[in-house]
Order: sequence, then structure tokens, then C-alpha cells
Amino acid sequence: MTANELRTKYIEFFKSKNHVEISGKSLIPENDPSVLFTTAGMHPLVPYLMGEPHPAGKRLTDYQKCVRTGDIDEVGDASHLTCFEMLGNWSLGDYFKKESIGFSYEFLTSKEWLGLDPELLSVTVFAGDENAPRDDESASYWMEVGMPKDRIAYLPASDNWWAAGPTGPCGPDTEIFYWVGEGKPGAGSNKATDSANWMEIWNNVFMEYNRIDEKTLVKLPKQNVDTGMGLERTTTILEGKTSVYLTEIFQPIIKGIEALSGYTYGTDEGKDKSVRIITDHIRSAVFILGDPKGVVPSNVGAGYVLRRLIRRAVRHGKKLGIEQAFLPGLAQIVIENFKGPYPELEENKEKVFSELQAEEKKFSDTLRKGEAEFEKLLPNLMKNPQKVIPGRVAFRLYDTFGFPIELTEELAAEQGFTVDREGFKEAEKKHQELSRTQSAGAFKGGLAEQSEITTKYHTATHLLHRALKNVLGDHVAQKGSNITAERMRFDFSHPAPMTKEEIQKVEDIVNEQIKRDLPVTMEIMDLEEAKKSGATALFGEKYESKVKVYTIGDFSKEVCGGPHVEHTGVIGTFKIQKEQSSSAGVRRIRAVIS
Ligand code: SER
Repeated sequence: MTANELRTKYIEFFKSKNHVEISGKSLIPENDPSVLFTTAGMHPLVPYLMGEPHPAGKRLTDYQKCVRTGDIDEVGDASHLTCFEMLGNWSLGDYFKKESIGFSYEFLTSKEWLGLDPELLSVTVFAGDENAPRDDESASYWMEVGMPKDRIAYLPASDNWWAAGPTGPCGPDTEIFYWVGEGKPGAGSNKATDSANWMEIWNNVFMEYNRIDEKTLVKLPKQNVDTGMGLERTTTILEGKTSVYLTEIFQPIIKGIEALSGYTYGTDEGKDKSVRIITDHIRSAVFILGDPKGVVPSNVGAGYVLRRLIRRAVRHGKKLGIEQAFLPGLAQIVIENFKGPYPELEENKEKVFSELQAEEKKFSDTLRKGEAEFEKLLPNLMKNPQKVIPGRVAFRLYDTFGFPIELTEELAAEQGFTVDREGFKEAEKKHQELSRTQSAGAFKGGLAEQSEITTKYHTATHLLHRALKNVLGDHVAQKGSNITAERMRFDFSHPAPMTKEEIQKVEDIVNEQIKRDLPVTMEIMDLEEAKKSGATALFGEKYESKVKVYTIGDFSKEVCGGPHVEHTGVIGTFKIQKEQSSSAGVRRIRAVIS
């Protein structure tokens, strides 16, 4: 049975039990700042579990795309996924344990539905604690439908209590497992006695509590049921496979990777891992980018998770020897395969392709530089008997090459090293302090803000400064700069108004440097050394003895606190709007980028 068939059957089954199908929701949760993504099918239903009446009634069913990235580094083994689908059925104060268990058992074992062998199923129920009693009730309903007593394990809250977050609706659950061991399970085999051989496929939560805070648990006005069946896992067992990646859900993507890399999946464990990482991450990235709520790669929140997924996929592509840009091609396969149940992927495909393309390019450049840098560092690092990469080294890779700390950790792990995270944080803090000090004085206003657009303006300031010197002469010196998200202002010494031609020339030079997509790099130096190296330092500015020097390709070199973009191509188009007098001998330019 394919995943599409399973999805359809599930919904059909619950409709036949008087449930109304509702549509799954966005991957980006509404009104919930506590999580970055929708992590479970029940997530969008929280208000209704809390007592709000649902317009579609009290019995609901749906399929929901989910993203869980807490264990992103685990992805690569045969079972972990960052993006998955959950099939769900809900009772909002309607049926409770008995019917819920009855429905699940019927759907799983009836020949009319999945027809699984009952001998290959086992369950767990809540063992009880100070919050709620041992769930003998659920156990008795399981036995009523035919589950042998020795296939029922009682487990504590760490296994059998479900909550979406630290507060909110929660309750004991009963989980359903399928046998993945050799042959048939022996007498007494269940999740408690034989954990590794049982794979969870479905979780029925009896949500009758609301956690108000750490100490307070109250009963909800109604007894609800929230169930979630893992579509990928259940498809795996229905197709008789040993790994989700071997199902028809992922095989088209894996075939795509095979075609790109010339590598055949299943012949080398290390490379298989890379294939699985790319497969999982490209699917997640397409689902996130294809969501109507629209997250794009960035350095914060959900955008940062997306960036990590894309970048990790690119790196593993390189490990497999894929030289060309490959993510948009794989995204096409993902969209083709999932646009049936998720038409939004097709609707947003242009955005998916262009964002992937841009991020892949950006990161490939970064990677080339960063990996070369890492290689250079290796001989020295190898001398370190503790096998720990100092935090400041990891921070330099991050700050200069845009190398995410997680990737440094992964590269390090390949060499048997760990990264000093604490040291990294310290280096980051120092960097921020340095930036703050340097952004005082002439840079008053604007530069403490580090949004993407102000960062672009900041780099454009350096380009403008150099271009003015080139066109008007070396007497030009920066007298002040002020940046907002809307525009930049730049004050400089020059005795006369600029001519139209000079303004045009300066503008053209800046745009030319943007088009050349010059890399922006940073080095920390002694102030004297920086001046000697030809870096422009601002007259009258107070500097610490160690300063940061930003170099833009072969064009500009300035002492500056940063931050800056990684390469000039991202700045956009530069336009001078106004040139006027600021004070005696000082001119002021107002410019925008778009
Ligand atoms: N909320 C439960 C889970 O995510 C069941 O849907 O496992």
C-alpha cells in the first residue's frame, strides 16, 4: 500500500465513523511564539481541545504536515525525519478511551482496512503517578478487542504522557507498536521487555487535563481524544521495508540523488547517510518554503532552521561528489510527488526554486572558503591532544565565512574533534562588544541594529566611501554615517558640490562592485598593523588596540565593527538620491538600495 493510499484510507475510515475531514494547516503555527513549526497534528487544534467549539463538529479527522527539528543532527540514520505527516482523528468531548481504542484496532487489523496481523501488534498504557491514576481502563479496552495481556506494557509519564508544550492540554496516552524484529514476537514480548523490536506507529492521547504551570494540573471541561499516526512509519511496515527511506515516499528523491552523483544507494554506509540527509532535508526545505506563510532562509528562528537544512543538504551533496547546483532539481521531484495532497507546493514552486537556488549559491561559495580554511587549520588542531576546537576558531569560521557552528561541529566530528561551544559563545559576546564600541562615535545611530537590510547598507557605505575617494580624490574622509532600514546618509569632507557627472560616476562604480559580487572578509588585527596594511581608519574615531578589518574583494579595506554582508551581490541596486552641503567643507549623500 502506498502512502497516498494509506492517507486516503485513513480519512475514509474515520469518515465512515462520522468524523468530518478538516484540512491540515500551515507549518508555521499561528499565534504561538513558543514553537517555530507545527510539530504535531494536534497543534492547530489546541484552542478546541481547550474547549472552544470547532465549526466542523466534535469528531474530526485530517492529515497534517509537521516539522520537528530538535534532533536535526540525528537525521541520517535509517528512521529519523525532520518533516513528516501525521494522520489524526479527534474527539472534542465526544467519544473517549473505549471507542478510540476500538477504532484504532479495527482500522489496523480489519481486512477491509489495513489488515495487519494482530500478532504483530503491542501497546503501552500509562503506569500512573501523582498526576493521574494507572490506566487500567485503557488496558481493559485493549483486552476487549483482542490484545493479549502480555502485549500490554505499563510505562511511566516519560513514555506515556503527552503534552505539546510546558503548558496546555495534555494527558495519558496509549501507544501502538508494530513488530520489526526477526520472525514473530515470543510470549511476553512487548515495549517494556523488548523495546528495540517494536516500532511506534500510532499514539492515542486522552486529553482531559490542562497544565497551567509546573505545579498546577487541572481537568479540562471535556474529555478529548487526540491521535496521531505516523504516515511514513506506517507506510514502511505496510510495504514490508526496514527503513522509511526504502519506501516509495522517498525513493524518487533517492533516485534523483543517484542520478546526480552516480552513487548507488545501499553500497556504502557513509554515503548512504549523506543520501538520507539530502533526501530528508530537501523535502523539509520544500515543505517550509512552499508553505503559504512563507519563511525564507535567514539567521533567526524558523529561517535559521531552514538555512541549516539547506546548507547541510548542500554539504552532503558535495560529499557525494555533486559539483553542480542540485537543490532546485530535487525540489522539482519533491513537488511532483507531494503536490496531490499538498497543492500549495505547486502554487509556490517559483519561490521554492529561487530561494533554494540563491541559498545554495551563497552557501557553496561560503563552503569553498570555509572548508579550505578548516583544512588549513587542521595540522595545528591535530596537535591538540584534547581534540577540542577552540571556540574562537569556530567563531572565526562563522563570522568570516558564514560557517554555521553546527557544520563546524560536524566537520570536527569527522576528525574525531569536538567544538568548545562555551568558548564560541564567549567569542561571540566579545565580538558584539567590539562592534558596539566601534559603532559609537562617528557611527552613532543605526549600526547597533543588525537587520539584513541595515547590514546591506553598512557594506554599501564602505563601497561608497571608496568610490568617492576614487572619483574625488584621497582627501575624501568619512565624517559620519547614519543608517536606517529605509536609507543611508553619508557625510564626507569635500570642498565643493559634486557635479552630476561625478555623482553618476560614483553611483556606477558602487553598482559595478555589487555586480562583481565581491567577497567580504574580516580579520582581527592590531590597530597599527591594520593601518599599515592600508586599511582606512576613521579620523577622530576611538579604537581599541585590536580592531576588525573588513576587506571587500580588491576594492576596499576599512577598520570597522561590522556586521557586513558576506558578498556584495546581495546588496541590490544602489542609487544616490541627493547630494547637499552638511556643514562647512562637509558634503552629505543620501542613498538607497533596492
Ligand atoms: N499529539 C500526539 C502526538 O503527536 C498524538 O497526535 O504524538
